Amino acid sequence: MIRTGVATDATSLAELAARTFRETFAADTRPEDMALHIAQTYGPSQQERELLDPDITTLLADVDGQLAGFAQLRSGETPSCVNDDAPLELWRFYVAQPWQGRGIAQELMRRIEEEASTRGARTLWLGVWENNERAKAFYRKNGFEDVGSHVYMVGTDAQTDRIFVRSLNEIRHP
Ligand SMILES: CC(C)(COP(=O)(O)OP(=O)(O)OC[C@H]1O[C@@H](n2cnc3c(N)ncnc32)[C@H](O)[C@@H]1OP(=O)(O)O)[C@@H](O)C(=O)NCCC(=O)NCCS
Repeated sequence: MIRTGVATDATSLAELAARTFRETFAADTRPEDMALHIAQTYGPSQQERELLDPDITTLLADVDGQLAGFAQLRSGETPSCVNDDAPLELWRFYVAQPWQGRGIAQELMRRIEEEASTRGARTLWLGVWENNERAKAFYRKNGFEDVGSHVYMVGTDAQTDRIFVRSLNEIRHP
């Protein structure tokens, strides 16, 4: 089931987030940059702050009490290449490896659309690493389009993220 995360999920969310980030990017990231990024970004206190932050919505895919994935919406600054109405950032979207290709990502995306609409958004935007082919394919089949790029720091490594955008007015389901 997909449910909204609460503060007591902080430790399991931190563990899942660090693990899925490593699984996805370890092969393409220097170990020191990976260690720095994980230390700066993931840990029970960081995730607890996020879970309590009213500008952030965290959705968890919970399979019999085990977290299989998570997604977060965040209000804040929007890159200049996103010119659409009422934009909201799909900040993080991760499914643990054993659960990829099994429909959880689609369920999470449906709930993200509902949450974003409830928050008054009419556009979703996100940054995806330029070489993350699986994620780009997933977002494209969910109606996102590439509109530009921005720099994303992983430790000391300045990487290029593509910026993907989709309208929430005409929802296209694969
Ligand atoms: C991105 C993610 C959420 C997608 O979830 P998923 O369950 O893998 O998604 P799906 O299997 O429904 O769709 C992935 C698509 O990529 C395709 N694909 C798989 N491997 C691929 C590859 N190496 N290159 C290109 N496309 C690939 C699949 O065929 C599928 O498309 P199809 O349904 O048209 O066949 C999930 O893979 C994930 O969490 N990855 C690791 C974390 C991550 O990269 N998050 C995004 C950060 S921006």
